[in-house]
Amino acid sequence: MADNLFLPQGGSKEEIYQALLPQIEALIVGERDLVANLANIAAALREAFGFFWVGFYVVQGQELVLGPFQGPIACTRIAFGRGVCGTAWKEKKTQLVPDVEAFPGHIACSSASKSEIVVPVFQNGEVFLVLDVDSNRLDDFDAVDQCYLEDLMGILEKSSTT
Ligand code: SME
Repeated sequence: MADNLFLPQGGSKEEIYQALLPQIEALIVGERDLVANLANIAAALREAFGFFWVGFYVVQGQELVLGPFQGPIACTRIAFGRGVCGTAWKEKKTQLVPDVEAFPGHIACSSASKSEIVVPVFQNGEVFLVLDVDSNRLDDFDAVDQCYLEDLMGILEKSSTT
């Protein structure tokens, strides 16, 4: 396993994602421990993009429970259908939120968080965890982030079922 991530200096967002995804895939392929893989994915995304907060919430019964993350401390439990994360779980689809204050029921773990993207991750057709990325800038995520973060979660789904 490589010790360092290799990322294009001054590259566009697409170029950084394109360089990053195969390296994350190499990191998690062959490692069966989910917590270890989630921890490395959160660290790699934070290192590549400097996101304010990036991490996972894992489905446990009727709640999401905080998993591995990078960034400030966060709320530990989120009910089904609550907030952006609970909505991604309920609707089984990515939530792209340009302004968190305009999202009904948004859960503010930090007042510094301004925009957010949450991607659900599936096992046997059911959501088993969500990726949550927060920015301290408004409107910081777009279709490019959605496309690559969904691809990345597809890689995680594959590696979690083999
Ligand atoms: N804002 C999220 C809660 C998690 S924190 O942002 C880390 C939500 O509304 O679900």
